[in-house]
Amino acid sequence: MAKETLSITDNRTGKQYEIPIEEGGVIRAAALRDIKTSAEDFGLMSYDPAFTNTASCRSRITFIDGDKGILRYRGYPIEELAEKSNYIEVAYLIVKGELPDRKHYAAWESNITTHTMIHENVKKFMEGFRYDAHPMGMLVSTIGALSTFYPEAAQINDLESRRLQTRRLIGKVPTLAAFAYRHTRGLPYVYPQNDLSYTGNFLSMLFRMAERDYKPNPILERALDVLFILHADHEQNCSANAMRSVGSSQVDPYSAVAAATAALYGPLHGGANEAVIRMLVEIGSPKNVPDFIKGVKEGKRRLMGFGHRVYKNYDPRAKIVKKIAYEVFDVTGRNPLIDISLELERIALEDDYFVSRKLYPNVDFYTGVTYQAMGFPMEMFPVLFAIPRTSGWMAQWAEMVRDPEQKIARPRQVYIGEQTRHWTPIEHRPEPTMREDAVSDQI
Ligand code: CMC
Repeated sequence: MAKETLSITDNRTGKQYEIPIEEGGVIRAAALRDIKTSAEDFGLMSYDPAFTNTASCRSRITFIDGDKGILRYRGYPIEELAEKSNYIEVAYLIVKGELPDRKHYAAWESNITTHTMIHENVKKFMEGFRYDAHPMGMLVSTIGALSTFYPEAAQINDLESRRLQTRRLIGKVPTLAAFAYRHTRGLPYVYPQNDLSYTGNFLSMLFRMAERDYKPNPILERALDVLFILHADHEQNCSANAMRSVGSSQVDPYSAVAAATAALYGPLHGGANEAVIRMLVEIGSPKNVPDFIKGVKEGKRRLMGFGHRVYKNYDPRAKIVKKIAYEVFDVTGRNPLIDISLELERIALEDDYFVSRKLYPNVDFYTGVTYQAMGFPMEMFPVLFAIPRTSGWMAQWAEMVRDPEQKIARPRQVYIGEQTRHWTPIEHRPEPTMREDAVSDQI
């Protein structure tokens, strides 16, 4: 029988090494350290900027097969969950590992609901933001500020504390998000209403005006719930990696979720849905699509909402979002920007530039047009991503905390700077013109 090992010959020394292959295709990077030219040698290490081929953990939460376009949470296909489940149940599944029975579902829902209120001081704190503050910036800082309200959250090795902070975060993030939105609109904050569903309550906190009984439109409520399911987790993406990396210092989970939210803010990650709408508005009409695509192919632009580090096929979430977009349009009226999206997709999927690089629509390509039709301003789009992703971050964090193999995250580097130099008095340093060249590529 073939051995599950990798044989390496170090041509510098002629020595041979045998490294075990684990899990059907993984070698331990630390095994490379044994490959040395002398006892003093540090040993080999792998160089992998942006971790394109490095597994940082063993995880049981989310499975992606990027070539086949498969996404599963805890083994359940995303298509089934989007069709049959709801976000609260999916959050339970992601955090706890199994679907809840009736009793546990009711307890979980009630636990989340009772944690939707926030301390009045948080509200005052939010009032300090400028009227035009980006809601995602407000969310990053207020989530971080929550750690000062719950200092016991620092007990990260205490199971009950971890459970409590998880319920609090999943419950409170929508409230913070809605308050951030109301702040930008100069509207009074709407307090949580516990007889509504998770998404229904969120819509109420956002859009309720002077109605005696606010009833969210059930189709929009369900559409948002499905969008929340689709965004709940996505294994080791930039923000999950931030959550684990920051959390590995054993800081409290509020600080780590603030870091993860900050990671999500960027236009290459959760900020992409906002960037997609800005791009569609700039393109203006389907007839301008060929020119835009030309610019993308010339490297002047990126086609936002396209491409993915892991998916080299149609993102399964994008297929579901596209369907939801039309269900939403049936209620709200068609968002005319969808015509530009469809034309971009049509042209890109026929073009060798995109085909050869396996660039397909990702989840963000159709979410923006859907959110916009539902009445969300663009700045809220990344916030809408952060709310459901909180359950994924907490699951990733808890898995990391419990994993005996994990330690503080601390990558190596390949140092390419100067070797030892000695300080010289300022009058003996090179002329400014010569120095400018040396420092021009620094910050
Ligand atoms: N438009 C044009 N060209 C692209 C794009 C794009 N959107 N994405 C990748 N490419 C090209 C890239 O220029 C490169 O070409 P070449 O080999 O000639 O240099 C090749 O495809 C590989 O790209 P990469 O940058 O090495 O791929 P990556 O895995 O580092 O980046 C990505 C993944 C998602 C950051 C990238 O595809 C991108 O910038 N997409 C647009 C932003 C976006 O939609 N982000 C949302 C991602 S999904 C939701 C989430 O995770 O938050």
